[in-house]
Amino acid sequence: MAAKLKSGDRLVVASHNDGKVREISELLMPHGIEVVSAKELDLPEPDETGSTFIQNAEIKALAAARASNLPALADDSGIEVHVLDGEPGIHSARWAGEERDFEAAMGRVEVAMCEKDARTPEKRGANFTCALSLALPDGTCETFEGKVFGTMVWPPRGDNGFGYDPVFLPEGGELTFGEMEPGDKHAISHRAKAFDQFVAACFERN
Ligand code: IMP
Repeated sequence: MAAKLKSGDRLVVASHNDGKVREISELLMPHGIEVVSAKELDLPEPDETGSTFIQNAEIKALAAARASNLPALADDSGIEVHVLDGEPGIHSARWAGEERDFEAAMGRVEVAMCEKDARTPEKRGANFTCALSLALPDGTCETFEGKVFGTMVWPPRGDNGFGYDPVFLPEGGELTFGEMEPGDKHAISHRAKAFDQFVAACFERN
């Protein structure tokens, strides 16, 4: 992608998920970007018809860039539980239903894992994946992917973060994402790993 972002530019975060918008805004803060969310602009939410995180991130970024005439950054992400063949994966938000009830979604995952007899840490492996796409109003788009590996725990622990954070213990750690301070999650998360690649590729160097 030829175009580069620089301090002072305005960027749409193409998400209606407040937790994601907060994390992406925190990650963008040191770069002096003016962030506006798709929700604030009242942009329509496109159907996520892709079969991968990357396809869905691109659908969301391109739709927001066209509708707003601004560069747009979209995140498609989710948790992949290995004993469930990667589910809920791209359906992570849908497992929480219309009401976005993540306590229920975490419970659903736990029941599904117990049905597979996944009761010991070595059978409870999982990873978060994040695809981040930057799209421009002219229809160009570039995408970056990050993953973080760990173990599913039960019961949920901690009130920080969002979504499935309270049941995810990153590899080598003692605190779940739900128990960590935001800065500590940002140092290792799937979103931060995708974000580092995005910054390296899409920001003008001074
Ligand atoms: P979507 O990308 O908007 O379709 O939804 C992704 C869903 O995955 C979110 O609603 C969360 O439930 C889950 N998810 C993605 N990233 C995270 C994270 O960093 N922590 C916890 N849950 C996450």
